[in-house]
Amino acid sequence: MKDIREWDTFLIPYEQAVEELKVKFKHLRRGYDDLGEYSPIEFVVGRVKKVSSILSKTRRLGIEYEEIAEKMEDIAGIRIMCQLLGDIYHVVELLRERDGKDFTILYEKDYIRDKKESGYRSYHLVISYPVYSAVGYREILAEIQIRTLAMNFWAIIEHSLNYKYQNQVPLSVRKRLQSAAASVWALDLEMQQLKEEIKSAQKLFKQNAMAVHNINAQLQLLSAVGDYDLAAHFQSRLDAILDLSSTERLEELYEQINSCLSGEPR
Ligand code: GTP
Ligand code: MG
Repeated sequence: MKDIREWDTFLIPYEQAVEELKVKFKHLRRGYDDLGEYSPIEFVVGRVKKVSSILSKTRRLGIEYEEIAEKMEDIAGIRIMCQLLGDIYHVVELLRERDGKDFTILYEKDYIRDKKESGYRSYHLVISYPVYSAVGYREILAEIQIRTLAMNFWAIIEHSLNYKYQNQVPLSVRKRLQSAAASVWALDLEMQQLKEEIKSAQKLFKQNAMAVHNINAQLQLLSAVGDYDLAAHFQSRLDAILDLSSTERLEELYEQINSCLSGEPR
């Protein structure tokens, strides 16, 4: 496997797999939004490993060209970020439900409970993923990393420092990174404890947003049927309620507009 066109062909199913997996997890997130529910997924990113990185990894691990597809597990990489520690295990459950249907989980590594010496924490799953692409059917390997926003912040900084020092990070810097990792862990534990409060705050915000959306749609209907005065009247009542951000009063207003629209006495 030498020239760049061969690499492009080789990577086609990986590119497609990353795009497909990103769509699947992003839509999962959107589904929670549409339901007005708290989402265990905050955001999703994905990438295909660069040819230069694949080559240096083959050298590091002593992998032959022919063995790359079979032995290199992270050519396709997906990263799922969560707000809270507990969300990570929720996402792992969601992935296990897909095992044997959408893909096959080959193994899992819990670097949350057993952090790496560097201080790194994340939950890893290596899957075999079926792709029908322009080069035919393949089952490719992909690595899914699940972590909190705080763990991600740490890992990105640590990765940049490794890059800067070409993996020869001075001991003093490594120690500071380990201590930063301990702070990140303390923060994640603290935020997990605040979980219920965070969730109810976000739920209230989403419910209000949805109620306002529904009321606006009803107001448009009122205008569409020519009831401009009524639409203006309800609009000003909506403006008054918005200052209070009360879900109950929004619901009441919605019901009242509904009765007007359905011609019921008011
Ligand atoms: P490789 O797959 O060769 O990297 O080694 P491995 O299989 O022993 O690694 P592992 O499965 O534990 O981790 C693979 C990926 O996790 C890496 O490519 C990184 O993205 C991430 N990772 C692992 N350890 C660290 C770390 O100490 N710091 C950061 N920033 N990322 C890490
Ligand atoms: Mg690995």
